[in-house]
Amino acid sequence: MSSDTTGAIAEAAVETVATLCEDRELVVVSNREPYSHHREDGEVVVDRPAGGLTAALDPVMQAVEGTWVAWGDGDADRETVGPDGVVAVPPEDPSYDLRRVWLTDEQVDGYYRGYSNQVLWPLCHLDTAKMTPEPSYWRAYRETNDDFADAVLGATDSDPVVWFQDYHLALAPRRVRDARPDAFLAHFWHIPWPSWDVFHACPQYEQLLDGLLANDLIGFHTDEYCRNFLDCVDAATDARVDRANRSIAHRGRRTFVRSFPLGIDAARQAELSETEAGDDFWASFSEKHGLVGDHRFALGVERLDYTKGIEQRLDALELFWAEHPEWREEFTYLQKSIESRGDIGDYQRLQSRVGDAIDRVNDRFGTDDWTPVVAVTEHLPEAGLAALYREADLALVTPVRDGMNLVAKEFVAAQTADPGVLVLSELAGASEQLGEGSILVHPHDPESVADAIEEALGMSERARRVRIADLQRVVHAEDVYAWLESTFETAAAIERGRRSAPAEPTR
Ligand code: G6P
Repeated sequence: MSSDTTGAIAEAAVETVATLCEDRELVVVSNREPYSHHREDGEVVVDRPAGGLTAALDPVMQAVEGTWVAWGDGDADRETVGPDGVVAVPPEDPSYDLRRVWLTDEQVDGYYRGYSNQVLWPLCHLDTAKMTPEPSYWRAYRETNDDFADAVLGATDSDPVVWFQDYHLALAPRRVRDARPDAFLAHFWHIPWPSWDVFHACPQYEQLLDGLLANDLIGFHTDEYCRNFLDCVDAATDARVDRANRSIAHRGRRTFVRSFPLGIDAARQAELSETEAGDDFWASFSEKHGLVGDHRFALGVERLDYTKGIEQRLDALELFWAEHPEWREEFTYLQKSIESRGDIGDYQRLQSRVGDAIDRVNDRFGTDDWTPVVAVTEHLPEAGLAALYREADLALVTPVRDGMNLVAKEFVAAQTADPGVLVLSELAGASEQLGEGSILVHPHDPESVADAIEEALGMSERARRVRIADLQRVVHAEDVYAWLESTFETAAAIERGRRSAPAEPTR
């Protein structure tokens, strides 16, 4: 697909969004902002959406001229806003408002590092042992959610369409609902939703559910997360859960629960994998790392997070080289890790354990001419990363738990030359869509991962082509614009239904 096609798809998504909003303001709310301002050598520079959801939503926001509410964490963010915390973006052609929420150091500590990333993140990724439910974290989370809600209310006097993103904002919908009963509120939860016995481990389970049930629509990546959410509501509240219809009657309203698997801009990713800039990058990168001739390699790309299964993957690679000495000096693993949440203890400890594990494997098998595991430290420009995806013989996407995993989809879309093989964890949300064309593995079973590497390296070109064609069909058909369209089509249908139906019985 060309960028023209991408443009047409984006337009279709814009129309769907516009139909729902009609003359209502669209307000997107997320923790991270689409544009942030920094000082570099005395000058103010702007960071733009690099990819993913923010990049996909930006043109939609420009077209519908809405408001985006987010934490202003850039060091020059305060200098670039008007008195109400608003800056019009994009800078070169201002068409929508970015309304920044300012957080104190205590709020960043309690709401972002604390409750969001040391309570909700481990909870939803089934790692309750890592939960740190400090009372001060919960207080900061509540207070900051109020601040986000107040920024939404400050953006418009009428009843907006509000779209909350992710686990940082579970309580904000309730406060907006109380002030604007006729607003349309939707929420997309980007991480897994656990089963009730796990969610029960969170002391604030009731308040979190009550906050989320102020939404008209809650979206998850997979049907499994939807079922888990309905189970939690059923067990923890006196709301009426209609499983057949996947809806919940609570405090006089109905909340619909649906799965919308997030996608990528697949056409753009395919184009990126064929650029001259990517070819140039690959030429020097492959030379530098000895990835030339018949040498084969696998790639892993992710934030340095304990959910990504990096340590378990390194164990599996160690097993692979131990069991298959014929692949030593013939096959290399590239690990691109993006440092993340580095001021949280669990993340610091993970960084040093991953470093130790890489050294261990390299000490065991490395030779004067070959480093088995290469930790890629150089900056990877988008086209460079796309070229690495394209050239890789296989991608190892083996999280121990992951809401969706978009790297798997980027890898698939970038297979525009000799196709590589996707090795994918059963425990990634992406396995619901991509299970068929990939080799599925269990991330905690090093044998299964080592066997998958061997299978991928031995797979015929024909078999790889058939698999990648299947995967590419899914990744292109269910891209980020399809995700936007189906979310907003569902929202519009709910809104039409609500206008023509009697009020919900209160319970
Ligand atoms: C996950 C979350 C996002 C978050 C991202 C990066 O993908 O679902 O909401 O923005 O991780 O994490 P960070 O803590 O740096 O925002």
